[in-house]
Amino acid sequence: MSKPAVLTLDDKEYVFPTIKGVENEKAVDFRTLRSATGYISYDEGYGNTGSCQSEITYIDGEVGILRYRGIPIEQLADKSSFLESSYMLLYGDLPTQFELDQFTTRVRKGAAVSPMMCDALKGFPRDAPPMGMLGSMLGAMSCYNASMATNDRAVDLEHFDEAAAAAIAQTATAAALGYRVTKGLEGNQPDPSLSFGDNFLHLMFSEEGRPYKAIPEVSRALDLMLLLHADHEQNCSTSTVRMVASGGANLFASVAAGCGALWGPAHGGANMAVIKMLEEIRATGDDGSKFIEEAKSGKSGKRLMGFGHRVYKNFDPRAKIIGKACEELLNKLGIDDPCLDIARHLEQAALADDYFISRNLYPNVDFYSGIVLRALGIPSDMFTVMFAIGRMPGWVANWREIAMNPKMKINRPRQIYQGPALRDYVAMEDRG
Ligand code: SDX
Repeated sequence: MSKPAVLTLDDKEYVFPTIKGVENEKAVDFRTLRSATGYISYDEGYGNTGSCQSEITYIDGEVGILRYRGIPIEQLADKSSFLESSYMLLYGDLPTQFELDQFTTRVRKGAAVSPMMCDALKGFPRDAPPMGMLGSMLGAMSCYNASMATNDRAVDLEHFDEAAAAAIAQTATAAALGYRVTKGLEGNQPDPSLSFGDNFLHLMFSEEGRPYKAIPEVSRALDLMLLLHADHEQNCSTSTVRMVASGGANLFASVAAGCGALWGPAHGGANMAVIKMLEEIRATGDDGSKFIEEAKSGKSGKRLMGFGHRVYKNFDPRAKIIGKACEELLNKLGIDDPCLDIARHLEQAALADDYFISRNLYPNVDFYSGIVLRALGIPSDMFTVMFAIGRMPGWVANWREIAMNPKMKINRPRQIYQGPALRDYVAMEDRG
């Protein structure tokens, strides 16, 4: 037990317990602050606030460490698969072969979506944003899987294994279906003989009589991308899932909310923004040097997308892994993508520039992921959708951690009111 914290307020001393995590993270336990002192803590953006104690993922932003259930991301990237790491995120430990086979079968069996979802997708405009369609479909899954989405915690937990597999599998199926519907193409049926990533590529790109067959390097690169996105502690979208889950909402309603949070360019939308930035730089003939000056000036409102992070003040370990995989994949496929050269130049220039160094701005997971996804044939307006497919196991694991906690209270932050002081209603005829 670590030493208590002493806080002096209005000349009175208050003592609060402290909490120490497995990796020596420390927190002052302020759960009695308001009742004891009349004060609340204030931390806009929650950068200094712990919302929960979780056993799922650990990040050390200063050093650049990421571990799923204690295992370093570098080892998982090298030795594990997306589904094996997903199982571990959901249930706590690496699966036995039997457990992995069972889970894989559940995911493959749960991949088909209701034909009514296909009809619903046909109701969207052809130029509908894929993340808007995906978020709608995730919410709709609570309708198409109603027996697993009752908002009765005991019942929803009883169906968790099936619901988790459905959420992970059907996110990919719905994403591919949305892509094909907007292209005016018929949807493909999931192929249970294929791996998770190969099945997604089949759902996206197979045509009548011409099934899509991924080469091993493509399969490996996609599986790695999904694994690297699978969870990331209390990021914006995962915290949103926990916020919604804390009210007792079912798994699908909670991950649908997380999907909305991921959409923003400061979060999951950054991978699309990186490619847009690289293409803009390429179109001007600049090697990136001019853009960096603009991003530093802040005047243009431009930022070096794919750089910086709320937690990592060092290299995002995922960026290193993806950067290497990107080089290998493009070499293997014989793709000479000028955006990769520009990205490399931006990285080298920024890492030697005091503006970025002094602000601890390093490449994050999004910096190279768009180049990899483009090499895999994924359209750029689906890059954030790929992030959501990868992040689904993390969202589901966090939903389960809340649902399994009998002491979990509904999340309800406080505020400091800065609006008009007390005043009376003014009749219309007396208004200015
Ligand atoms: C993800 O939280 C997670 O875990 C997220 C994620 C996950 O896996 O879930 O890791 C995924 O969202 C990665 C981040 C993707 N976003 C981007 O790449 C967008 C570009 N980056 C940023 O906009 C920014 O870096 C944030 C939003 C990621 C972090 O912002 P912070 O930590 O709140 O930093 P800040 O906005 O307070 O900026 C601090 C300073 C400012 O300059 P000064 O006011 O000190 O002069 O750094 C500057 C900012 O202008 N700055 C940048 C910059 N990011 C911050 N300047 C240029 N380019 C950038 N990218």
